[in-house]
Amino acid sequence: MKKKFLKSQNTIFIFDSGLGGITIFNYIKNIFLNINFIYLLDNKYFPYGNKSKNFILQRLIKILKKISNNYNITLAIIACNTASISSLPTIKNYFNFPIIGVTPAIDLATQKTKNNVIGFLATNTTLKNNKIKKKINFLSTKYKIKTISSSKLVFLAEKKLLGYKIIIDEIKKIFRSWYNFKIFPDTIILGCTHFPLILNELKIIFPKNIYFLDSKKDVILKYKENIDFNKIKIKKKENIVFYTKKNEYLKQIKLLFFKKGFKNITNLKI
Ligand code: DGL
Repeated sequence: MKKKFLKSQNTIFIFDSGLGGITIFNYIKNIFLNINFIYLLDNKYFPYGNKSKNFILQRLIKILKKISNNYNITLAIIACNTASISSLPTIKNYFNFPIIGVTPAIDLATQKTKNNVIGFLATNTTLKNNKIKKKINFLSTKYKIKTISSSKLVFLAEKKLLGYKIIIDEIKKIFRSWYNFKIFPDTIILGCTHFPLILNELKIIFPKNIYFLDSKKDVILKYKENIDFNKIKIKKKENIVFYTKKNEYLKQIKLLFFKKGFKNITNLKI
């Protein structure tokens, strides 16, 4: 792994299993104008949605060790609900730089809903997580929380971002069980960073005026506590991307990141 930045330069490291973290990058890139970004997509193990909590934690430790040996990380953002829920707060014990993640906006959803029916879309690993299960159980006396986990939806979101046409009926099929609800959720949690990428499609298949909540605001609230902007040092800004496996989508992935101003796209063998 070549050192592309001086070790003294400040870097924000953004991590996701795939391209969902771009929904977080798009949101924060205008806030951190004078800082380098490294985006890593762990496409070797994508999707994370059915991997065990321990597998994800160990994988993240390995990746963060490798990256932080070569770059001065000012802040690591785990831009993946599944990886955040599986690794935080434990992972903070392994590193001396701040690490923040994204969590599904469950509490906010309870404040927004008027009919007390909430939809919760996330991966299987997120929905199976003990903390999440306890939370849903606790809230279930007052709210009806309808969950759906789907790796297919994650794949469709990536395909759309890479410029492929996606068929709306394929998304409809995923929500088949929701069509006979007496009362449809008026608030839906997008508990996976990939899902904002298909927000328009979800709006087409669901009734009108649903309140959709993703996790990006979470990041903004947390970064302020973790970055001292006076200490940021940078000589030349050059955002870079690492992927962990060559695949048939690499050409489109490279194009996508070049368009977003990333200069260097490298295979990280890990
Ligand atoms: N983007 C990830 C999340 O926010 C999940 C995608 C996957 O299954 O790898 O949960």
